[in-house]
Amino acid sequence: MSKKRKRKLNRKKILLVGLFIIVTILTIYLIIPKRYGYQKEVIETFKEDNLYEKIKETKKYSKTLETAILENKFNKDYFGEYLNIIYVENKDFIDEVNNLLSLGYKSDEINLFYEKLPDNINVITSNEYDKNISNYLTLSYFNIDNLDRYIKYENNDNKFTSVYDTNTIKDNYNYEDTVTFVNAYLDKDYYTNDIALSKEEEKKIDVIVNKYYKLSKDYEPDDLTKIDSKFASGSNQRLRKEAAIKFEEMTAEALKNGYKIYAGSTYRSYDYQLGLYNRYVAKDGFDEAETYSARAGYSEHQLGLAVDIINGKWEYLSENDEEYEWLIDNSYKYGFILRYPRGKEYITGYVFEDWHFRYLGIDLATKVYNSKLTYDEYVARQL
Ligand code: DAL
Ligand code: ZN
Repeated sequence: MSKKRKRKLNRKKILLVGLFIIVTILTIYLIIPKRYGYQKEVIETFKEDNLYEKIKETKKYSKTLETAILENKFNKDYFGEYLNIIYVENKDFIDEVNNLLSLGYKSDEINLFYEKLPDNINVITSNEYDKNISNYLTLSYFNIDNLDRYIKYENNDNKFTSVYDTNTIKDNYNYEDTVTFVNAYLDKDYYTNDIALSKEEEKKIDVIVNKYYKLSKDYEPDDLTKIDSKFASGSNQRLRKEAAIKFEEMTAEALKNGYKIYAGSTYRSYDYQLGLYNRYVAKDGFDEAETYSARAGYSEHQLGLAVDIINGKWEYLSENDEEYEWLIDNSYKYGFILRYPRGKEYITGYVFEDWHFRYLGIDLATKVYNSKLTYDEYVARQL
């Protein structure tokens, strides 16, 4: 054989081998189906359900999707969601995911729940859909123990039977309010959820007392101090020592500015409050008395940290008074805040009381003043 012929034959061989390789690659690529990491039977299901084209488009492997198919729990409607749900090793995972999906949750919410609330999925699935759960989680005062109540409250399951019209507030509240109100127990009717304050708590200057937080019958502060009678109605108006001092300072400053203010009602014992409340009920009836008088044990006056203020005309302070305006702008600088503002009746549990101020100390009163929240809300956001 000539050298020339030999070379020609070699070239042919190379060409044939090359052709074979190309054909093989093309066959693998075109004819043998691509699996993108899925098991064969999973691919079969995709094909049966006309989903294989979609898999080819996304080229995405999802263990959640694969597991749903292998466990025979695959629902075609949720195909796109399964694709994006991050798999969690848990025998009930697919059942839980299907529950969440059927309630209306989407993959990004479901991923967030498993990241942040893996032990509380059953709380979510036993309630209606709540679009705000992912928002609740962003709040520093979100309390996981209250999750069930947030969802119920949002869905209005826990209808609140307040004497106040709650419709306006329910229409306007946002997810921050939901968490705040539930933390403040507003999903429970007044006086049905007593939290008994401990001996230590009762003594704290910042203690909260309202229709949920209750003082003991025998609590009496041990530092009650008389207010100088030139700043008070009568000679026996008493507040706890630091509140009495600050009240006198505030009154003196008001006077310098031309405003006369006096302490009209200050510390009231449990028994005194009981008599007062009963008299109001006898006079105005139970429903009305409830809107402006605390039951015994639930009044800030028993703390010796609340003062009902009298104006220069010797009447209880009113929002139309210049003294009121001065107090709204300045009382926090002496540690006092307006405790029952207008429009917050549903939250405080009381009608607007333009005369009732609560001592909290300067730092805290300033924070509450700046927050524009009621003290009840402020406390509910301090978790
Ligand atoms: N008037 C207020 C709420 C009280 O009775 O303590
Ligand atoms: Zn009062």
